[in-house]
Amino acid sequence: MRFASYNRITALLLAALFIACFIAGCSGTPEPVPIERPTSAPTSVPTPSPTPEPTPEPTPSPTPAPYAVIELESYPLSGNFVLVNYSHRCDWVDEAGTRLLALHGNTGRWLLLTNNDHALLPEVVTALDSFAEAFCNRTGGDRLLVTSSFRTLEYQQRVYDEKLAEQGAEYASMYVALPGFSEHHTGLAVDLSTMSAAGERVPLISHAAFDWVKAHCSDFGFILRYPVGSEGITHVAFEPWHFRYVGKPLAKAIEALGMTYEEFTEHMAEYTVEKGLLYLSEDLCCPDVADINALPDEGWVIYTAEEGSTFPAILDCSYMEIGRLNDGRLLGLFHLGH
Ligand code: DAL
Ligand code: ZN
Repeated sequence: MRFASYNRITALLLAALFIACFIAGCSGTPEPVPIERPTSAPTSVPTPSPTPEPTPEPTPSPTPAPYAVIELESYPLSGNFVLVNYSHRCDWVDEAGTRLLALHGNTGRWLLLTNNDHALLPEVVTALDSFAEAFCNRTGGDRLLVTSSFRTLEYQQRVYDEKLAEQGAEYASMYVALPGFSEHHTGLAVDLSTMSAAGERVPLISHAAFDWVKAHCSDFGFILRYPVGSEGITHVAFEPWHFRYVGKPLAKAIEALGMTYEEFTEHMAEYTVEKGLLYLSEDLCCPDVADINALPDEGWVIYTAEEGSTFPAILDCSYMEIGRLNDGRLLGLFHLGH
C-alpha cells in the first residue's frame, strides 16, 4: 500500500487542527467552566429566604466532527485518479516526465520490454511488476511484454501521424489520441502484449490467460481502459492491450460497478459528504453507501467534492489519497480503521 500522500496530508491536517484550535482558544477537549458559589453563608447576616438556585442547563458536550475540511492549495493537480480522454487534456506531461521511473532495471525477469526507454510513475512500475509476476506464475512461464508506456507530446504525434498515414483519419482517431489527450502522457497507462515461454509473441487477447488478466488486473490496481462495447463512451475502439493504473481500491470499485472510467467519475458525483459515501468492505467488494457521521470501523470509502481548494477529509483513517478529476472535482479515497 502506498502512503506517499499521507505524511503530507497528515501534516496539513495537524497544522489545520492546530490553527483551528489556536483560533478557538482551546486545547483538546474544552474544560467545563466552574461555577463559583460561596462555601457557606455568613451567620451574622440575616439569611434571606433562599431563592432556589436555577438548575443549570446541561451544556451539550460538543460532538467532534468525523472529518476536517483541509486546504488543498498546494495539492498536485495530477494524480492516480485523473481522467484523461479526448475531451479532457493532460496538462502536466512535462511534470509527469520528471516523476518517471524506468522499467528497465526496476522490474523482474517476469516482465519483458520492447526497449529500455519504457518508464511509468513509480507506483505503477511496482504494481505492474507484481502483475507480471502473477501472470508468469499463472501461465507457467509466459511473460507480459510492455509495448508502450509514458509518451511525450512529440512521441504521441508520431504515433498519430503513422496511424493516419497507414489507415486514414477515422481509423487513427479510433485508436490513437491526439497529442495532449492521451493517457500515455500521465505515466499511468501501459500497453501490454505477451511472450510465450518458448519465445513466441502472442497478443494478449489471443493468450489463453486473457480472461484471467481481465479478472485479476484490478488486484494490482489496473483497469482495462477501453473495453469492448464502450466505444460510444470512451470514443476509443476496444483496446485489449491498454491498461490504466488507478490503484487497487478504485480498480475494485470500477470492476464491481462494471463501468468505464468515464462512467465511474461521472457516477461519483452521487457520492459526497451530503449524499453519502461509496463504501467498500475491507476486502474491497460489495459497493454500498456509508454516512460520514456513522462510519463502519473498517473498510474503504470514496467520495467527491465540488471544485475548490478544500476537501472534507476523514480524520480517523489509516490511508488517504485525494486527487483532482479533470473537470475540477476532487475525489478522495480513505481507509477506515488502522
Ligand atoms: N490508444 C490510446 C487511445 C492513446 O493513444 O492514448
Ligand atoms: Zn495505450
